[in-house]
Amino acid sequence: MTALELDTLFGSLSRFPDVVADNLQAYDATDRLLLETAAGIVGAGTNVVVIGDRYGALTLGALTGLGVGHVRVHQDLFTGRLALERNAATTGLENRFTQHGLDAELLDNAGLILIQLPKSLAELEEIADAVARFAAPEAVVLAGGRVKHMSTGMNLVLEKYFSSVQPQLGRQKSRVIIARTPKAAPDEPPFPVVEPVPELGITVCAHGAVFSGARLDIGTRYLLTFLDRMTAARRVVDLGCGTGILATMYARRHKEALVVATDQSAAAVDSARGTAEANGVGERVLVLHDDAMSTLEAGSADLILLNPPFHVGASVHAGAALKMFEAAARVLAPGGELWTVYNSHLQYRGALERLIGPTSEEGRNPKFTVTRSLKS
Ligand SMILES: C[S@@+](CC[C@H](N)C(=O)[O-])C[C@H]1O[C@@H](n2cnc3c(N)ncnc32)[C@H](O)[C@@H]1O
Repeated sequence: MTALELDTLFGSLSRFPDVVADNLQAYDATDRLLLETAAGIVGAGTNVVVIGDRYGALTLGALTGLGVGHVRVHQDLFTGRLALERNAATTGLENRFTQHGLDAELLDNAGLILIQLPKSLAELEEIADAVARFAAPEAVVLAGGRVKHMSTGMNLVLEKYFSSVQPQLGRQKSRVIIARTPKAAPDEPPFPVVEPVPELGITVCAHGAVFSGARLDIGTRYLLTFLDRMTAARRVVDLGCGTGILATMYARRHKEALVVATDQSAAAVDSARGTAEANGVGERVLVLHDDAMSTLEAGSADLILLNPPFHVGASVHAGAALKMFEAAARVLAPGGELWTVYNSHLQYRGALERLIGPTSEEGRNPKFTVTRSLKS
């Protein structure tokens, strides 16, 4: 594939349904560098696996540019999966890839693995372990990222799982690390981590990519101090559930409640399922991989608990939280409650008033504000 053809493919990609903004793109120079590096390595019949594709640039680039008929893909984000599907349909490449968990099905007999490096070392470690455990012994791993987001810690994680780890020269502010020769995998995979949180009296299950790992986030800790003041509802949603601590704590307190714990991250959803089961509420906590409750019916919840995100990728962007508020406005039944915790400097109260309804400040500590919004 020529550089021009790759430009044409990349130019046709959209981030939708993720946040779309003028300063946010559906591909980056790392996608290009990974594909160009892969072109010198891929052979006839090589099984290609893509991990961490954002919106389809790597998967669709591999299908059009590397001469492979089929690609196995693992994407953590629900929005990324939908974007890949849409982009594949517009480029006529649908049915040429399959989505998998981070498991043997994804990696069995894989010869070339293209990875967009994740933000956290824990997420990278879970990926590196899976590749070393399941891919072919002669597999080549190309892990790429923006130089400003890469750290020597990433090399150390890869060196734990591969005998040969070679960072390549950077280009256009991106760099690829080539890893080969997987080491023998430990008996037990490093993830999920399952740890007690003594101050809550529960056990938390955390996969590598999940927000805050197995630790209790300090904003969540503050929101939980209001648990007794929240309405005793039957239809509850833990929106952006992460490890599912809010869902589990609410379900333990209110035995009649049915809680949907939902997140855009597959790692979060798997973690929340593990947390609910570890604490005996697995039957009343339904986990759902979704984007901002898009598959829940309007007016179907009486209470929503929310500790919203405020990062989109590496840039600070309020769009992600506003999208959650809009979703809560749609899914709450009239008179329903949204409880939100946020960094006080973000001043979300106006948006909550506008999008949901009357919003009261229930508490404020040196860092966080907790609000209750009533759906009008
Ligand atoms: C600040 S974390 C809170 C996690 C968890 N509720 C807790 O309290 O520890 C925000 C969570 O929202 C999720 N998230 C962000 N955007 C989302 C979206 N559009 N739909 C669903 N979940 C989303 C993130 O994956 C992340 O797990």
